[in-house]
Amino acid sequence: MYTLGINAVYHDSAATLVKDGVVIAAAEDERFTHVKHAKRPVPFSTWQMPFDAIDYCLKEAGITLADIDHVAYSYDPALLASMPGPSRGAATIALPLEPGLQRTSPPGESPWDPLFVSYIVNARAQLIDGAPHHLAKRFRAPEGGHRFAWHYVEHHLAHEASAFLAAPFGDTAVLTMDGRGEGVTTSLGQFVDGQYKRLKQVELPHSLGLLYEAVTTWLGFLHSSDEYKVMALAAFGRPNYADAFREIVRYRGNGSYTVDDPRLVERFGPPRERGGPLEQHHYDVASSLQTVLEETVLELARWLHERTGLPRLCMAGGVALNCVMNSRVRDEGPFDEVWVQPAAGDAGTALGAALWIDWRERGLKGDRVRHWAMSHAYLGPSYPDAEIESFLRWSKVPFKRLADVAGETADLLAAGNVIGWYQGRTEFGPRALGARSILASPVDPGMQAKLNEIKDREDFRPVAPVVMEEHAAEWFVNARTAPFMLFIFDVKPEAAQRIPAVRHVDGTARVQTVNRSQHPLYYDLLAAFHARTGVPILVNTSFNTRGEPMVNSPRDALESFWTSPLDALVIGPFLITKQGAGS
Ligand SMILES: [Fe+2]
Repeated sequence: MYTLGINAVYHDSAATLVKDGVVIAAAEDERFTHVKHAKRPVPFSTWQMPFDAIDYCLKEAGITLADIDHVAYSYDPALLASMPGPSRGAATIALPLEPGLQRTSPPGESPWDPLFVSYIVNARAQLIDGAPHHLAKRFRAPEGGHRFAWHYVEHHLAHEASAFLAAPFGDTAVLTMDGRGEGVTTSLGQFVDGQYKRLKQVELPHSLGLLYEAVTTWLGFLHSSDEYKVMALAAFGRPNYADAFREIVRYRGNGSYTVDDPRLVERFGPPRERGGPLEQHHYDVASSLQTVLEETVLELARWLHERTGLPRLCMAGGVALNCVMNSRVRDEGPFDEVWVQPAAGDAGTALGAALWIDWRERGLKGDRVRHWAMSHAYLGPSYPDAEIESFLRWSKVPFKRLADVAGETADLLAAGNVIGWYQGRTEFGPRALGARSILASPVDPGMQAKLNEIKDREDFRPVAPVVMEEHAAEWFVNARTAPFMLFIFDVKPEAAQRIPAVRHVDGTARVQTVNRSQHPLYYDLLAAFHARTGVPILVNTSFNTRGEPMVNSPRDALESFWTSPLDALVIGPFLITKQGAGS
């Protein structure tokens, strides 16, 4: 039984293919289209299906859309207040000629809603008929039409299932938070004995995610995209305005909260111009927001723990990409173990929707056992060595085949080179985890500045370490397994001087731990670097240039390599350097 999951409603369009409980492939559309987040979360982009990501998933399994049994779409239009009534088939939509000129009606509703709903209601037809010409072959209907059943899955149920049906454990409490789904913004529930039950939900207009987005905009960054920059800025500030944010966000003592209109300009002054100077005031607002977010989520976690009595928590939703918040839940929250699904943003709803429908349909046939857990995120496309080699030959790029990929790359890194590292299947989710990474030595104190320069990004942005799992505790305080860079750890004082490049201004680092079963070659590279330098750690940042999604194909890697000051590219077993270039 094949189940295809699709996220297309807002942004981070993505697809996932599940076969009988096992995830075969998962990918974000941005990696193919080179449009970051695939599209902006605006109503007139809702029609856009992640055709490239779907095409890839089908290709990976060697099937076409005709072989799919179920399609799970991670949004349920029936839950929208503005959805036409039961006579849907006959319903028409009424749209103002210029919706953008209309005053927005009640919070959470928009004059664009009719258009938005219409696109969602027609998603099935769009999937079948809308594929672009060059991909159409895999989408074509057989004689008699496609056989798949179409399912709308509530947005937060998709986030929830992406956590509890992917977590490396069974019974679990479940917490999801994002900007918004159909109407829900936060959910608290439990997955026990194979049954999921939602215990509490918070609805619009109350949304921690939307508040974080509003402050992101006020700080001159792009909302629904740059929230992680706000989190990074918070480390430079003091929570001087925490009381102001506590007036905006009130925990209600029962697993829910309210968010008042933040009136940011009234409270904190004019917004920062995009690209304008960053001042202490901005850092302090970011820090205050971050503090109150953490406090509120800790309260939610405490309520959920008290209510369920479960020792484990899994999380998803865009807010769960906030690794500083996650770490406070881990350190100060009541749960013994906290796991965050790495594609926590909306891309992960493609995974969750597919897993949920697969789970439900298998359950109807008596198969109530999970067959898969997300031990790694390497679920996207890979390219065979022969294909990479023929591409390099065709493009007349001088290269050499390495006999010892890990050892020779470690030599280059130990000598201070910054390297594009392209190995195996692409990561699903926003973090580079050693498949499409830029790697460098953490020993050089100037490396953070050098990498920010290479990636043409802001000076305040930290770079993160990857460490061999078994050595993590020697370098980071209370280190635990963290394969997805979703938690921070304090750098041990005695280690701080040896790995200055990866220590953020607050003394923390956003760590990735890796073991051999997750990515053998990546692990071997770390081991080889360790053997040469005594340091089992590398700097790891995503392989892209500013404003671009992470590289995906060999062509992307080559283009990024030659248009940025990287020293070398290790792609599969092949090494490309710039020796002699520019001379
Ligand atoms: Fe979401």
